[in-house]
Amino acid sequence: ILFIYFRNIVSCLAQGRVFMGHIKPVFVVLVTLTLCLSIIAYIYDLSLMPVTLPLSWFNNANQTKLYNAVSEGLSGKINKKPTDLLAPLPNQQIQPRGTTVEQTTDIPIYHHVAHPRNYHFTLDEPDKCKQDPFLVLMVPVAPHQLEARNAIRSTWGNESSVQGKAVLTLFLVGLTGGAEAQQQLEEESRQHRDLLQSNFVDSYCNLTIKTMVIMDWLATRCSQAAYAMKVDSDMYINLENMMSLLLSPNTPRQNYVTGYLMWDRPVIRDKNSKWYVAEELYPEPKYPTYLLGMGYVFSNDLSEKIVEASKEVKAFNIEDAYVGACLRQLGVAPSSPPDPSQFRAYLGQYNREDFLRVITTILGSPQQLIDIWKDVKRPT
Ligand SMILES: *[C@@H]1O[C@H](CO)[C@@H](O)[C@H](O)[C@H]1NC(C)=O
Ligand SMILES: *[C@@H]1O[C@H](CO)[C@@H](O)[C@H](O)[C@H]1NC(C)=O
Ligand SMILES: *[C@@H]1O[C@H](CO)[C@@H](O)[C@H](O)[C@H]1NC(C)=O
Repeated sequence: ILFIYFRNIVSCLAQGRVFMGHIKPVFVVLVTLTLCLSIIAYIYDLSLMPVTLPLSWFNNANQTKLYNAVSEGLSGKINKKPTDLLAPLPNQQIQPRGTTVEQTTDIPIYHHVAHPRNYHFTLDEPDKCKQDPFLVLMVPVAPHQLEARNAIRSTWGNESSVQGKAVLTLFLVGLTGGAEAQQQLEEESRQHRDLLQSNFVDSYCNLTIKTMVIMDWLATRCSQAAYAMKVDSDMYINLENMMSLLLSPNTPRQNYVTGYLMWDRPVIRDKNSKWYVAEELYPEPKYPTYLLGMGYVFSNDLSEKIVEASKEVKAFNIEDAYVGACLRQLGVAPSSPPDPSQFRAYLGQYNREDFLRVITTILGSPQQLIDIWKDVKRPT
């Protein structure tokens, strides 16, 4: 900026010489003004330094400060949360193999917020996978959505064996708003033994954290499972068809992920959209190919690989596209299912034949899941 101002002064001087005499008073005023502006611009520039150079600023901050600043940045407002809730515990700090702690602070700042090792489980079922499940269905759900959990428990969540293969369904929630809600959740957990809870605030903008915590649970508590599925709580799943797909000799056992493919999707830059992503978080105009978050199934070797890859991939708030970015980092291309119409992203008119044929469909309500399940399962 200073350089430009000096160049202006020089060109003013040159013009002054050409026009001579009567121009002079105007010229002096101009030079003074220019100098004042230069000084103001210089001071202003200095005061902006910490904002325009966050990386060097963050390098001086300790983990706790860095973490708070990052979560404030993601939620877009300065809110004072208890630091013990947001700060990684000493034994949970990320230390990639072969690198030092100093080096990890050089990784782009938002990388930390969705990394699952920053969180820990406040409700856990570490022994669930001793039954050696073949397929684990992981359902992210809000703490208050008891009706949705119960509908799943009485339908596809209650299927423990499909075509002779063990299936397990678990729910993942974040932190609730209050002590009473927490008590109810703990009671529900004692009753059903299918609840996992992690210590991040459960909210729409934290869905990426939720998905990554699901990956972390699969990698650390359930690595023996052959396949896993991330499935939303408003979904119908036909487990028979799902199992047929997974047991097909053409289905890879590793580096495999399939569902409803999203190709060539532009990043939404409209600030009023629910799917808005800031350029600072994801600068590219388009997402890599990813799988729609409603329900995608993957070989379980990928859970650990995705957690590893997330250390290198800056977090952004669109959870399914973020998993897509991690897959691209891994060099794993999502597979198109043998019959793409089996992953349905709409409900439409109810037709029993459709539900006998699909693998997943989006539903409107928990009651609808119960009704459709009864109808699909009725003997014919
Ligand atoms: C890091 O920063 C937090 C918050 O400013 C402070 O409470 C804590 O003592 C600091 N820790 C270290 C090791 O400097
Ligand atoms: C789950 O299925 C079993 C039979 O396999 C049944 O006895 C039980 O009531 C079902 N649970 C729910 C919540 O529907
Ligand atoms: C989660 O979301 C809420 C609000 O949407 C935010 O205040 C909080 O800092 C976020 N992050 C974590 C780690 O809880």
